[in-house]
Amino acid sequence: MRSNSLALFVAASVYHLSGVGAAQLKQKPLAEYISYSSVPGYFVQDNNSTNASTFDFVRPHSVKTFLHYQSRVATNFGLINQTYPTDGQFDPKGEKSQWERFANQVFRLNLESPSNIIYKLLFIGRHGEGFHNAAESYFGTPAWNLDGNSTAYWADAHLTANGIDQAQTVNDLWRTLIDSQNITTPQSYYVSPLTRCLQTANVSFNGLPLPAEHPFVPEVKELLREGIDIHTCDSRSNLTYIKANFPGYTIEPGFTEYDLLFRQSTSETTTAQNLRSKTLLDDIFSTDGETYLSFTTHSGEAGSLLSVLGHRSFSLSTGAVIPVLVKAETLSGSPPTTTVLPYTSQVVCNQPPVTSLATGGCVCSSGSTIPTGEAKRR
Ligand SMILES: *[C@@H]1O[C@H](CO)[C@@H](O)[C@H](O)[C@H]1NC(C)=O
Ligand SMILES: *[C@@H]1O[C@H](CO)[C@@H](O)[C@H](O)[C@H]1NC(C)=O
Ligand SMILES: *[C@@H]1O[C@H](CO)[C@@H](O)[C@H](O)[C@H]1NC(C)=O
Ligand SMILES: *[C@@H]1O[C@H](CO)[C@@H](O)[C@H](O)[C@H]1NC(C)=O
Ligand SMILES: *[C@@H]1O[C@H](CO)[C@@H](O)[C@H](O)[C@H]1NC(C)=O
Ligand SMILES: *[C@@H]1O[C@H](CO)[C@@H](O)[C@H](O)[C@H]1NC(C)=O
Ligand SMILES: *[C@@H]1O[C@H](CO)[C@@H](O)[C@H](O)[C@H]1NC(C)=O
Ligand SMILES: *[C@@H]1O[C@H](CO)[C@@H](O)[C@H](O)[C@H]1NC(C)=O
Repeated sequence: MRSNSLALFVAASVYHLSGVGAAQLKQKPLAEYISYSSVPGYFVQDNNSTNASTFDFVRPHSVKTFLHYQSRVATNFGLINQTYPTDGQFDPKGEKSQWERFANQVFRLNLESPSNIIYKLLFIGRHGEGFHNAAESYFGTPAWNLDGNSTAYWADAHLTANGIDQAQTVNDLWRTLIDSQNITTPQSYYVSPLTRCLQTANVSFNGLPLPAEHPFVPEVKELLREGIDIHTCDSRSNLTYIKANFPGYTIEPGFTEYDLLFRQSTSETTTAQNLRSKTLLDDIFSTDGETYLSFTTHSGEAGSLLSVLGHRSFSLSTGAVIPVLVKAETLSGSPPTTTVLPYTSQVVCNQPPVTSLATGGCVCSSGSTIPTGEAKRR
């Protein structure tokens, strides 16, 4: 299926990893570009009437009872129980599972679409709970902008025991759906370079009966990381560390030893993050011919990807995974221009803050006050 990629010869947007500020956010006029949309009607979470804060792709925190097992099958990553126009020919006796019939439907969508249109199913997952999430609850945002305190460390945060359980829940769900519905598992895996995602992907897919032609060999993608800002939990470890601790993973070409994007005192704007997400998607859609892709990423970055994909805003709880059926269309001409705002400067405490404020801000030990926090959750 490697041929099933868009023939995109020019990247639709250019995101330089070196250089500072606005200079790194150039968009070039192009001969063609990819336009993304999410296809509604297949998953409950793309329906506006589904409440994201109560949506349960698989009850993440409950104990493993028989009933729990049943509810996992029922929630089914949000796949709606329904018949498709392609069912009649594929499943005349009504014996195939919902996921098998869905896979046939996607296969037919690709078969019957013009050559400039492809459909892919993206499983977008957020990492399980990390130590930085626990610290954010404790200190408030952004007062936890330190590497840690005397009892916990969260620069490039690792998963807590709860976070590992959440990833194991995803693993259990995959196993259940492989066994009960012959679900098509991801054919390519992409993972953020931050440790909590590298760990989450490992636990989520460890030991599953995956097809030999599509083993779990994720590629580490720099641009799949969390929003780049002042929080050290969002700075990554060096390449030597990643290779040593995740030896089965592949590293994308050009990945640098050290983190060149994290700068402590500047934050990526939403528009800059969306340009980064679009650049990542263009890279993957124009080079990867597979149809089922897994992304292990962060809440802010998942939100940015959903926005670029034209999916409704949908906030993922720690450890949650949602599938998104994406239609990608290569169009000629230049894309509609968008305004990309440069990174902004941020005030940071250089020492552990003395106290957090109810507004989300904090008081630094130097005496200066950061009045409000960013309302971002990682
Ligand atoms: C969204 O969900 C509502 C309530 O279940 C349903 O009436 C509606 O048809 C759905 N819309 C789409 C586009 O599936
Ligand atoms: C879903 O809600 C968003 C935001 O309220 C709105 O812009 C969009 O048109 C809605 N989509 C549908 C299919 O109703
Ligand atoms: C979604 O659910 C949350 C939690 O139950 C509730 O507070 C919120 O009002 C709901 N939102 C909508 C739009 O119904
Ligand atoms: C979907 O179908 C399955 C199998 O027929 C059934 O067990 C499950 O309860 C259904 N789920 C919903 C939400 O209707
Ligand atoms: C360090 O921060 C954690 C929050 O992650 C908190 O539970 C712990 O009590 C803090 N330790 C000290 C000594 O303040
Ligand atoms: C599972 O689905 C694949 C197609 O995705 C098919 O080739 C295979 O025969 C199915 N396996 C079983 C046991 O039905
Ligand atoms: C996950 O990590 C463990 C411990 O490093 C390792 O033994 C295992 O092979 C890894 N699994 C995958 C699927 O990467
Ligand atoms: C990489 O980071 C680790 C700590 O995570 C450190 O021990 C090691 O010296 C670093 N390696 C290089 C080449 O900087």
